[in-house]
Amino acid sequence: MRYFIGNWKMYGIPNSINIIKKINSFVNSDKNHNKYRTLIAPPLTLLETFNRNFKNKRIQIAAQNYYHKDLFSSNTGAVSAFMLKKIGVNISILGHSDNRTEGENNQLLRSKIKIAKKNNLKIIFCIGENLKDKKKGKTKKILKKQIVKVLDKTFDPKKLIVAYEPIWSIGTGMIPSSSELVKTVTYIKQVLKNMYKGKKIPAVLYGGSVDEKNINQLKNITTIDGFLIGGASRSSKKFIDIIKNYYR
Ligand code: PGA
Repeated sequence: MRYFIGNWKMYGIPNSINIIKKINSFVNSDKNHNKYRTLIAPPLTLLETFNRNFKNKRIQIAAQNYYHKDLFSSNTGAVSAFMLKKIGVNISILGHSDNRTEGENNQLLRSKIKIAKKNNLKIIFCIGENLKDKKKGKTKKILKKQIVKVLDKTFDPKKLIVAYEPIWSIGTGMIPSSSELVKTVTYIKQVLKNMYKGKKIPAVLYGGSVDEKNINQLKNITTIDGFLIGGASRSSKKFIDIIKNYYR
């Protein structure tokens, strides 16, 4: 199974539902639709309506993050996993580098993973090294730490997708070379294998400047199970072309 997941970040207004409608009708008519899953993560303001509109549709609506305390609490501006579940959202991105740079550390992420378990929430867990670490040859060390300090074998691998997003490639137009990507994704899968001994490991996606052009190169790396797409997911045409070109 392949995944094409759109992360809209802080973009989108009610009208943007038309983007998802177009993607959904493409997926419905696509002869390859059984080979992949499509998800879009709009901002919080749109989650409830969008989720209602696309209930039982091929496209699924995901959240981008949630607070490290569950249920209800006196935290202005915060939204809990419990609240997401109550509006029917069953999956969320977690650990995106946008949030890690704002102070979302491993301890907070561990709390969020516990909360996900309690609420039966699926997670798209983001990991990735920055340019400084990459240049120092620390990529593997960083990625392993990001995985083992937050996840453990008690988190059901069926409820997990891992997204490898090198920070230096997010929104920059730069992507790792194919050989680098093969090596890194294989390494991530090895770490997950060690954690989930004997069990089927989660899908590992690539994210960072994925577009309708570089997908022609990325699709040759068959060890990548799908893509987390930022900028290009805010255009129905680009997002659809990514899927079309992947299967061409
Ligand atoms: P990008 O973002 O595709 O715009 O680089 C990816 C992400 O941050 O998830």
